[in-house]
Amino acid sequence: QQKPFQTKLVLLGEAAVGKSSVVLRFVSNEFQENKEPTIGAAFLTQKCRLDSAVIKFEIWDTAGQERFHSLAPMYYRNAQASAVIYDITKASSFEKAKSWVKELQRQANPNIVIALVGNKLDLVAETGSGKAASTKTDEDDEEADDDDDENGTVTAEGQSTNSARAVPKDEAKAYADEAGLLFFETSAKTGEGVVELFTEVAKKIPID
Ligand code: GTP
Ligand code: MG
Repeated sequence: QQKPFQTKLVLLGEAAVGKSSVVLRFVSNEFQENKEPTIGAAFLTQKCRLDSAVIKFEIWDTAGQERFHSLAPMYYRNAQASAVIYDITKASSFEKAKSWVKELQRQANPNIVIALVGNKLDLVAETGSGKAASTKTDEDDEEADDDDDENGTVTAEGQSTNSARAVPKDEAKAYADEAGLLFFETSAKTGEGVVELFTEVAKKIPID
């Protein structure tokens, strides 16, 4: 029986992209439709079993609201891994993700493993892309009811709830390759891609 290898991982990204939701899915396999914003940061742990080792992630889930930005270095300092998350339906969150990547590459541990993560994959109903690991079945007629959402709405708070994709997958992947990042698209809501994200990060952690 191997002793788990402890790895500090920090989640970064604009407010409301789904950082806490991705980690809740990974740690508890749950989803909350109206998750409250994180204040400061939250700490959670979860193990990831690889063939070669057990990795115990010690996860710092940071607050995305701008007023908490200055706290981030406390959490990414000494981190072996980071997931920088954006919302694939919100272009500004992708720009924010790029600025987090730059900050990490300048200020964090030079060997840090960084994953770029486009979340809320469930909000874009993309058909005809055979490889896009869809769990939908042919009998699934739910999509037809979702059509009203396609042009998006703006809430009283001015928050966009547009459900159309705003960040093309190939553009994000090209940026990730160029910057030397792992790349994933996930849905905290359905769970798609979430375990894969943490497993692939775990595989990149040098253990010795
Ligand atoms: P801060 O803590 O403020 O930085 O936000 P956050 O990045 O932790 O976002 P959070 O997980 O609180 O999610 C924000 C909202 O988006 C919540 O209402 C979630 O239910 C929703 N949400 C998160 N992930 C997904 C997803 O994959 N799909 C959908 N449809 N909604 C999501
Ligand atoms: Mg949060």
